[in-house]
Amino acid sequence: MTEPTGVSARRGPLRAGQRVQIKDAKGRLNTITLLPGGEFHSYQGVLRHDDLIGGFEGVVVENSAGQPYQVLRPLLNDFVLSMPRGATVVYPKDAAQIVQQADVFPGAVVVEAGVGSGALSMSLLRAVGDHGRLHSYERRPEFADVARANVEAFFGAEHPAWSVHLGDAQEEMPKVHEPGSVDRVVLDMLAPWECLDAVAEVLAPGGVWLNYVATATQLSRVAEAIRDSGRFTQVEANETLVRGWHLDGLAVRPDHRMVAHTGFLLTARRLASGEEALRLKKRSKVSEFKAEDVEAWQPADEARWTPEALGERPVTDKKARKAAKEARLMAARSRAAEQSVDAYGGRTPTGEQD
Ligand SMILES: C[S@@+](CC[C@H](N)C(=O)[O-])C[C@H]1O[C@@H](n2cnc3c(N)ncnc32)[C@H](O)[C@@H]1O
Repeated sequence: MTEPTGVSARRGPLRAGQRVQIKDAKGRLNTITLLPGGEFHSYQGVLRHDDLIGGFEGVVVENSAGQPYQVLRPLLNDFVLSMPRGATVVYPKDAAQIVQQADVFPGAVVVEAGVGSGALSMSLLRAVGDHGRLHSYERRPEFADVARANVEAFFGAEHPAWSVHLGDAQEEMPKVHEPGSVDRVVLDMLAPWECLDAVAEVLAPGGVWLNYVATATQLSRVAEAIRDSGRFTQVEANETLVRGWHLDGLAVRPDHRMVAHTGFLLTARRLASGEEALRLKKRSKVSEFKAEDVEAWQPADEARWTPEALGERPVTDKKARKAAKEARLMAARSRAAEQSVDAYGGRTPTGEQD
């Protein structure tokens, strides 16, 4: 049986082209790509990549000045936070919840938009596996380039379950998928309500639609749009706060700092066509409100829902192209590392040039 995509990049001896994290005795962390003849310079001396290539992770190696470094492969969480970025990435704590709350299963057909830097795509690809399908939609070609290269760098090869489609998700989705043929839809974009009709068309009855949004105004707008459509049920929202702990002898306490806000998750289930959502007997305590109250909170004028108005920093095409170039270099090295496994049965020929 062949191994699932990406497994050989995560175990066995370290190979040229792979990324490793090195931590010094002061806890300073650097992520480097191993290159034959390569060197990592610090004011404390020089660490030779050749001393790491062909060896295992989890070891401590010394540089030219005898300074020790702990060597480990980055986990998916680390990789995502250190890879080149075009758009803002979904944080690992949220990616984990997205996979769970959207109920993404091996073999599932999943639609994702936008693809951004490809961070969430990696978690979704791991969850659907080689026999599932992930269709990722992105309107900005430079971001799609960053994402493709990041995903290839992470898995060490193109992922067989992945297709990237350029264009607006709401327009492209119904052209690509048969009605009711998609198991799960995951949207991380500014205006997910614009995709409502497309999602309702392609999602299978009972299928999960998950939205990841950064602000309460977006959350409210997409929730109301989904409810008003009458085509979904079980509209639920939450956010995830992860508080790290400091562990040092008797000083065991929460960390002083944490990432307090990233985004909200909102899920809904697709009803079968023509079905109405079950009305709960419990009386709703929702207060009366006027159209102008909603207008103040959720302006109907689409032009007002700009990235700047929602507190997002715009990413220029130039910055995105630079990130794509960096990511492509990482992908080429990672692919070469993977090919060296195929050719040498898992052993890395040392001294080989990139
Ligand atoms: C925050 S980023 C996504 C980040 C991504 N989930 C990740 O983890 O790397 C939002 C992306 O959605 C794209 N986008 C926004 N609206 C879109 C639409 N209607 N169709 C396709 N892509 C869209 C933007 O260009 C941007 O790349």
